Amino acid sequence: MKITIIGTGYVGLVTGACLAELGNDVFCLDVDQSKVDILNSGGIPIHEPGLEDVVARNRAAGRLHFSTDVAASVAHGEVQFIAVGTPPDEDGSADLQYVLAAARNIGRYMTGFKVVVDKSTVPVGTADKVSAAIAEELSKRGLKDAAFSVVSNPEFLKEGAAVEDFMRPDRIVIGHDRTPEGLQAYAQMKKLYAPFNRNHERTFWMDVRSAEFTKYAANAMLATRISFMNELANLADKVGADIEAVRHGIGSDPRIGHSFLYAGCGYGGSCFPKDVQALERTARGYDQELLILRAVEEVNNQQKHVLGKKVVARFGEDLSGKHFAVWGLAFKPNTDDMREASSRVLIGELVRRGASVAVYDPVAMTEAARVLKLDFADAPVLLDRVSFAESPMQALEQADALAIVTEWKAFRSPDFDRLKAALKNPVIFDGRNLFEPQVMAASGIEYHGIGRSILTRG
Ligand code: UDX
Repeated sequence: MKITIIGTGYVGLVTGACLAELGNDVFCLDVDQSKVDILNSGGIPIHEPGLEDVVARNRAAGRLHFSTDVAASVAHGEVQFIAVGTPPDEDGSADLQYVLAAARNIGRYMTGFKVVVDKSTVPVGTADKVSAAIAEELSKRGLKDAAFSVVSNPEFLKEGAAVEDFMRPDRIVIGHDRTPEGLQAYAQMKKLYAPFNRNHERTFWMDVRSAEFTKYAANAMLATRISFMNELANLADKVGADIEAVRHGIGSDPRIGHSFLYAGCGYGGSCFPKDVQALERTARGYDQELLILRAVEEVNNQQKHVLGKKVVARFGEDLSGKHFAVWGLAFKPNTDDMREASSRVLIGELVRRGASVAVYDPVAMTEAARVLKLDFADAPVLLDRVSFAESPMQALEQADALAIVTEWKAFRSPDFDRLKAALKNPVIFDGRNLFEPQVMAASGIEYHGIGRSILTRG
């Protein structure tokens, strides 16, 4: 099938590359010439395991093309995926300007019937706005009856596992309407996704608004679990319970399940923070306050300070003259994505209290340097207190303590003797509960996890 993907960001690139892998003929369109140049020279602009190979293989096979040519790209695809960014507006609602610009481009250049797929995470009701934008452009061209149908097909890709998630989805959600065009779109989407449904049907067909809502509901539910566990972990620290034991104890109930119950130093990334806010904002537009989600967001904002608070409780409010190692900068492992990463809050807090930090991340160093510059735009001199180490061990040298923010595999089994020897004080603040508190105590390391203080009390 001939496919056009508008937007070669994270979602668009994975979708385009994976659909080409299935044998489709894919055109990826982006306004950013430098991104298209990177892609056309065999590189990829993001870090995502396995993606570079899929892109290279399909480019070589002539099934995957990258271009800035709007007219040619729109003319190409029978199915047009809109996969552009929906950054939060000042008030937290999703900014639809790029989605609607893509829609207008489709209306401006389309020829023949087009299935238009909203792949970006967009608020309930956006498909109607996309339809209206396309129709408006068509009428400017005097093409009142040109046929198209907008469907919603939200993505459920996890960064760091996106290729795998796309190729082996646990579910595919597609919302379409029941007009003749909507049914034609249904037939085409069914054909496109047929390879995933061979053994059993994984597609949930529904109306457009329910599909749009499903994406937000899923992310809001997952974010809620995390904030709830974080709140319980903070209480566990006080009452003297071990949150890891509690996690096992509740996760074994199949109604609760084990996934997404890990307490830590807060969730980040491009989806949870933004989608939680956007859903709250949508509800407010209908005079409804989503009280639980408001709390989920508030708890998460506070949780990003949990490591900073533990450092202050141990070393005092004034950290001048202190030096800390920070392991892990990306919002989660296997990505270089720094959006809403907890590391930014911790580094800001340490440095603004007078400390210096040596940071290390296996892949996010360049991106971290870029975003930290923005974070310290109000006081650029503070950035001089941040140094970028070449290895985890180098970051530890002469540090008063180590703080772990991202659970990269490379941090899971360090040489604790070397670690102790490198640090000035053998103190670890672990924002992801990587180590066993008793083992740490036995090795002579002062260990501060999240919700596990019972195991390190004397
Ligand atoms: C998420 C959804 O999982 C995905 O389905 C959706 O399409 C996009 O948003 P992603 O943002 O890539 O994916 O990361 P995810 O693995 O879900 O983790 C999000 C954040 O939650 C990370 O900061 C992670 O550290 C944190 N997290 C996750 C926890 O703190 N505890 C957990 O138990 C799980």
